Amino acid sequence: MTGRPYIVGNWKMNGTRALLAEARAIDRGAARQPGVRVAIAPPFTLLGAMAEAVQEIAVGGQDCHAKAFGAFTGDVSAAMVADAGGTFVIVGHSERRSLHGETSAIVRAKAEAALAAGIEVIVCVGETEAERNADAAETIVAGQVAESLPRDVEAAARITVAYEPVWAIGTGRVPSGDDVAVMHARIRAQLVELFGETGADVAILYGGSVNPGNASELLSVAEVGGALVGGASLSAESFLAIVLAAAGPGEE
Ligand code: PGA
Repeated sequence: MTGRPYIVGNWKMNGTRALLAEARAIDRGAARQPGVRVAIAPPFTLLGAMAEAVQEIAVGGQDCHAKAFGAFTGDVSAAMVADAGGTFVIVGHSERRSLHGETSAIVRAKAEAALAAGIEVIVCVGETEAERNADAAETIVAGQVAESLPRDVEAAARITVAYEPVWAIGTGRVPSGDDVAVMHARIRAQLVELFGETGADVAILYGGSVNPGNASELLSVAEVGGALVGGASLSAESFLAIVLAAAGPGEE
Protein backbone atom coordinates (compact mmCIF):
# COMPACT_ATOMS: atom_id res chain seq x y z
CA MET A 1 0.00 0.00 0.00
CA THR A 2 1.39 3.41 -0.87
CA GLY A 3 0.37 6.35 1.28
CA ARG A 4 -2.12 6.38 4.11
CA PRO A 5 -5.07 3.98 3.93
CA TYR A 6 -8.13 5.86 2.67
CA ILE A 7 -11.52 5.04 4.20
CA VAL A 8 -14.51 6.68 2.50
CA GLY A 9 -18.12 6.53 3.68
CA ASN A 10 -20.85 6.72 1.04
CA TRP A 11 -24.09 7.66 2.78
CA LYS A 12 -26.12 7.26 -0.43
CA MET A 13 -29.69 8.62 -0.02
CA ASN A 14 -29.55 8.38 3.76
CA GLY A 15 -29.35 11.04 6.41
CA THR A 16 -31.00 14.27 7.44
CA ARG A 17 -29.47 16.88 9.75
CA ALA A 18 -30.00 14.53 12.71
CA LEU A 19 -27.25 12.30 11.30
CA LEU A 20 -24.67 15.10 11.49
CA ALA A 21 -24.10 13.95 15.08
CA GLU A 22 -22.65 10.72 13.64
CA ALA A 23 -20.40 12.73 11.33
CA ARG A 24 -19.11 14.73 14.31
CA ALA A 25 -18.41 11.51 16.22
CA ILE A 26 -16.63 10.07 13.16
CA ASP A 27 -14.60 13.28 12.94
CA ARG A 28 -13.51 13.02 16.59
CA GLY A 29 -12.58 9.36 16.15
CA ALA A 30 -10.68 10.06 12.94
CA ALA A 31 -8.65 12.70 14.76
CA ARG A 32 -7.25 9.91 16.96
CA GLN A 33 -6.08 7.97 13.87
CA PRO A 34 -3.81 10.32 11.95
CA GLY A 35 -2.42 7.37 10.02
CA VAL A 36 -5.73 6.94 8.20
CA ARG A 37 -7.34 9.31 5.72
CA VAL A 38 -11.10 9.46 6.34
CA ALA A 39 -13.88 10.96 4.22
CA ILE A 40 -17.67 10.95 3.95
CA ALA A 41 -19.89 11.57 0.94
CA PRO A 42 -23.27 12.61 2.36
CA PRO A 43 -26.36 13.49 0.31
CA PHE A 44 -25.98 16.92 -1.34
CA THR A 45 -28.43 18.45 1.16
CA LEU A 46 -25.98 17.77 4.00
CA LEU A 47 -22.75 18.61 2.21
CA GLY A 48 -22.38 22.22 3.33
CA ALA A 49 -23.51 21.60 6.90
CA MET A 50 -21.23 18.57 7.25
CA ALA A 51 -18.24 20.40 5.81
CA GLU A 52 -18.74 23.04 8.51
CA ALA A 53 -19.34 20.50 11.27
CA VAL A 54 -16.11 18.52 10.83
CA GLN A 55 -12.41 19.33 11.00
CA GLU A 56 -10.38 16.19 10.38
CA ILE A 57 -12.29 14.36 7.72
CA ALA A 58 -12.92 15.26 4.10
CA VAL A 59 -16.46 15.73 2.78
CA GLY A 60 -17.48 15.16 -0.82
CA GLY A 61 -20.30 14.54 -3.28
CA GLN A 62 -21.71 11.21 -4.49
CA ASP A 63 -22.00 12.40 -8.09
CA CYS A 64 -21.68 15.54 -10.18
CA HIS A 65 -22.78 16.74 -13.60
CA ALA A 66 -20.26 16.81 -16.45
CA LYS A 67 -21.00 20.48 -17.16
CA ALA A 68 -20.00 23.37 -14.91
CA PHE A 69 -23.42 25.06 -14.94
CA GLY A 70 -26.56 25.41 -17.03
CA ALA A 71 -30.12 24.26 -17.59
CA PHE A 72 -29.86 20.82 -15.94
CA THR A 73 -32.73 20.64 -13.48
CA GLY A 74 -31.90 18.67 -10.37
CA ASP A 75 -28.20 18.33 -11.11
CA VAL A 76 -25.20 19.61 -9.20
CA SER A 77 -21.84 20.54 -10.72
CA ALA A 78 -18.38 19.74 -9.38
CA ALA A 79 -17.77 23.46 -8.87
CA MET A 80 -20.89 23.56 -6.67
CA VAL A 81 -19.60 20.60 -4.64
CA ALA A 82 -16.34 22.51 -4.16
CA ASP A 83 -18.19 25.71 -3.28
CA ALA A 84 -20.16 23.85 -0.59
CA GLY A 85 -16.92 22.68 1.03
CA GLY A 86 -16.52 19.36 -0.77
CA THR A 87 -13.01 18.28 -1.72
CA PHE A 88 -13.88 15.23 -3.79
CA VAL A 89 -16.66 13.57 -5.70
CA ILE A 90 -17.55 9.93 -6.32
CA VAL A 91 -18.43 9.13 -9.95
CA GLY A 92 -19.53 5.95 -11.70
CA HIS A 93 -21.02 4.24 -8.66
CA SER A 94 -22.84 1.13 -9.85
CA GLU A 95 -26.14 2.57 -8.62
CA ARG A 96 -25.59 5.56 -10.93
CA ARG A 97 -24.52 3.29 -13.79
CA SER A 98 -27.48 0.92 -13.45
CA LEU A 99 -30.29 3.18 -12.16
CA HIS A 100 -29.39 6.29 -14.16
CA GLY A 101 -27.99 4.67 -17.27
CA GLU A 102 -24.54 6.20 -16.88
CA THR A 103 -22.06 4.83 -19.39
CA SER A 104 -18.31 4.85 -18.85
CA ALA A 105 -18.09 7.77 -21.29
CA ILE A 106 -20.44 9.79 -19.09
CA VAL A 107 -18.50 8.74 -16.00
CA ARG A 108 -15.27 9.91 -17.60
CA ALA A 109 -16.80 13.29 -18.50
CA LYS A 110 -17.92 13.70 -14.88
CA ALA A 111 -14.48 12.71 -13.58
CA GLU A 112 -12.89 15.26 -15.91
CA ALA A 113 -15.32 17.89 -14.64
CA ALA A 114 -14.31 17.16 -11.05
CA LEU A 115 -10.62 17.51 -11.90
CA ALA A 116 -11.32 20.72 -13.82
CA ALA A 117 -13.10 22.08 -10.74
CA GLY A 118 -9.93 21.46 -8.74
CA ILE A 119 -11.25 18.66 -6.54
CA GLU A 120 -10.40 14.96 -6.26
CA VAL A 121 -12.39 12.16 -7.83
CA ILE A 122 -13.16 8.57 -6.87
CA VAL A 123 -14.03 6.54 -9.98
CA CYS A 124 -15.99 3.34 -9.31
CA VAL A 125 -15.79 0.17 -11.38
CA GLY A 126 -17.05 -3.37 -10.84
CA GLU A 127 -18.62 -6.38 -12.49
CA THR A 128 -22.13 -7.80 -12.00
CA GLU A 129 -22.72 -11.30 -10.74
CA ALA A 130 -23.67 -12.54 -14.22
CA GLU A 131 -20.43 -11.12 -15.60
CA ARG A 132 -18.39 -12.84 -12.88
CA ASN A 133 -20.21 -16.13 -13.46
CA ALA A 134 -19.43 -15.82 -17.17
CA ASP A 135 -15.73 -15.42 -16.29
CA ALA A 136 -15.83 -11.91 -17.71
CA ALA A 137 -15.15 -9.92 -14.53
CA GLU A 138 -11.58 -8.94 -15.42
CA THR A 139 -12.46 -7.95 -18.98
CA ILE A 140 -15.44 -5.87 -17.84
CA VAL A 141 -13.48 -4.05 -15.16
CA ALA A 142 -10.53 -3.45 -17.50
CA GLY A 143 -12.95 -1.92 -20.02
CA GLN A 144 -14.52 0.31 -17.35
CA VAL A 145 -11.10 1.48 -16.16
CA ALA A 146 -9.98 2.21 -19.73
CA GLU A 147 -13.15 4.14 -20.59
CA SER A 148 -14.02 5.85 -17.29
CA LEU A 149 -10.70 7.35 -16.22
CA PRO A 150 -9.53 10.78 -17.36
CA ARG A 151 -6.25 10.75 -19.30
CA ASP A 152 -4.71 13.77 -17.64
CA VAL A 153 -1.41 12.53 -16.18
CA GLU A 154 -0.90 15.89 -14.43
CA ALA A 155 -4.13 15.39 -12.50
CA ALA A 156 -3.68 11.67 -11.83
CA ALA A 157 -2.59 12.36 -8.25
CA ARG A 158 -6.17 13.53 -7.60
CA ILE A 159 -7.72 10.30 -8.89
CA THR A 160 -8.73 7.31 -6.74
CA VAL A 161 -10.22 4.11 -8.17
CA ALA A 162 -12.79 2.05 -6.24
CA TYR A 163 -13.29 -1.59 -7.21
CA GLU A 164 -16.82 -2.52 -6.16
CA PRO A 165 -18.22 -5.82 -7.43
CA VAL A 166 -21.91 -5.01 -7.95
CA TRP A 167 -22.99 -8.30 -6.37
CA ALA A 168 -21.15 -7.44 -3.15
CA ILE A 169 -22.81 -4.06 -2.65
CA GLY A 170 -25.31 -4.13 0.20
CA THR A 171 -25.53 -7.92 0.12
CA GLY A 172 -23.22 -8.99 2.92
CA ARG A 173 -21.27 -11.07 0.38
CA VAL A 174 -17.63 -10.30 -0.35
CA PRO A 175 -15.17 -11.75 -2.86
CA SER A 176 -12.30 -13.89 -1.62
CA GLY A 177 -9.04 -12.14 -0.80
CA ASP A 178 -7.50 -13.89 -3.80
CA ASP A 179 -10.16 -12.53 -6.17
CA VAL A 180 -9.71 -9.02 -4.77
CA ALA A 181 -5.92 -9.34 -5.15
CA VAL A 182 -6.19 -10.44 -8.78
CA MET A 183 -8.50 -7.56 -9.67
CA HIS A 184 -6.50 -4.91 -7.83
CA ALA A 185 -3.24 -6.09 -9.40
CA ARG A 186 -4.84 -5.81 -12.80
CA ILE A 187 -6.16 -2.35 -12.14
CA ARG A 188 -2.72 -1.31 -10.83
CA ALA A 189 -1.05 -2.51 -14.04
CA GLN A 190 -3.56 -0.52 -16.08
CA LEU A 191 -3.02 2.61 -13.98
CA VAL A 192 0.74 2.40 -14.53
CA GLU A 193 0.14 1.98 -18.25
CA LEU A 194 -2.12 5.04 -18.28
CA PHE A 195 -0.28 7.35 -15.92
CA GLY A 196 3.29 6.06 -15.68
CA GLU A 197 4.94 6.51 -12.28
CA THR A 198 1.96 8.41 -10.87
CA GLY A 199 -0.20 5.40 -11.64
CA ALA A 200 1.75 3.41 -9.06
CA ASP A 201 0.54 5.80 -6.35
CA VAL A 202 -3.15 6.02 -7.28
CA ALA A 203 -5.13 4.49 -4.40
CA ILE A 204 -7.34 1.54 -5.32
CA LEU A 205 -10.14 1.11 -2.78
CA TYR A 206 -12.22 -2.02 -2.31
CA GLY A 207 -15.97 -1.54 -1.80
CA GLY A 208 -18.93 -3.85 -1.25
CA SER A 209 -20.18 -5.03 2.16
CA VAL A 210 -17.11 -3.85 4.06
CA ASN A 211 -17.88 -4.07 7.78
CA PRO A 212 -15.95 -4.14 11.07
CA GLY A 213 -15.77 -7.95 10.89
CA ASN A 214 -14.15 -8.26 7.46
CA ALA A 215 -12.28 -4.93 7.14
CA SER A 216 -8.90 -6.11 8.46
CA GLU A 217 -8.78 -9.03 6.08
CA LEU A 218 -9.88 -7.03 3.03
CA LEU A 219 -7.52 -4.15 3.83
CA SER A 220 -4.58 -6.52 4.17
CA VAL A 221 -4.92 -7.71 0.57
CA ALA A 222 -2.11 -6.52 -1.73
CA GLU A 223 -2.90 -3.29 -3.60
CA VAL A 224 -5.98 -2.54 -1.48
CA GLY A 225 -5.40 1.08 -0.47
CA GLY A 226 -8.57 1.54 1.53
CA ALA A 227 -12.30 0.99 1.44
CA LEU A 228 -15.47 2.58 0.10
CA VAL A 229 -18.11 1.83 2.71
CA GLY A 230 -21.88 2.15 2.32
CA GLY A 231 -24.15 0.78 5.06
CA ALA A 232 -21.47 0.52 7.74
CA SER A 233 -20.54 4.21 7.32
CA LEU A 234 -23.88 5.43 8.67
CA SER A 235 -22.96 4.82 12.29
CA ALA A 236 -19.86 6.21 13.95
CA GLU A 237 -19.38 2.98 15.86
CA SER A 238 -19.13 0.71 12.84
CA PHE A 239 -17.37 3.21 10.58
CA LEU A 240 -14.72 4.00 13.21
CA ALA A 241 -14.17 0.27 13.75
CA ILE A 242 -13.26 0.08 10.05
CA VAL A 243 -11.00 3.14 10.39
CA LEU A 244 -9.29 1.37 13.29
CA ALA A 245 -8.83 -1.77 11.23
CA ALA A 246 -7.14 0.41 8.59
CA ALA A 247 -4.85 1.89 11.23
CA GLY A 248 -3.49 -1.59 11.81
CA PRO A 249 -2.67 -3.77 14.80
CA GLY A 250 -1.93 -2.04 18.06
CA GLU A 251 -4.22 0.95 17.42
CA GLU A 252 -7.26 1.56 19.60
P1 PGA B 1 -22.13 -1.32 1.05
O1 PGA B 1 -22.03 -0.25 -0.13
O2 PGA B 1 -20.93 -1.10 1.94
O3 PGA B 1 -23.42 -0.98 1.76
O4 PGA B 1 -22.13 -2.66 0.44
C1 PGA B 1 -20.79 0.04 -0.72
C2 PGA B 1 -20.97 1.05 -1.82
O5 PGA B 1 -21.98 0.99 -2.54
O6 PGA B 1 -20.11 1.92 -2.01
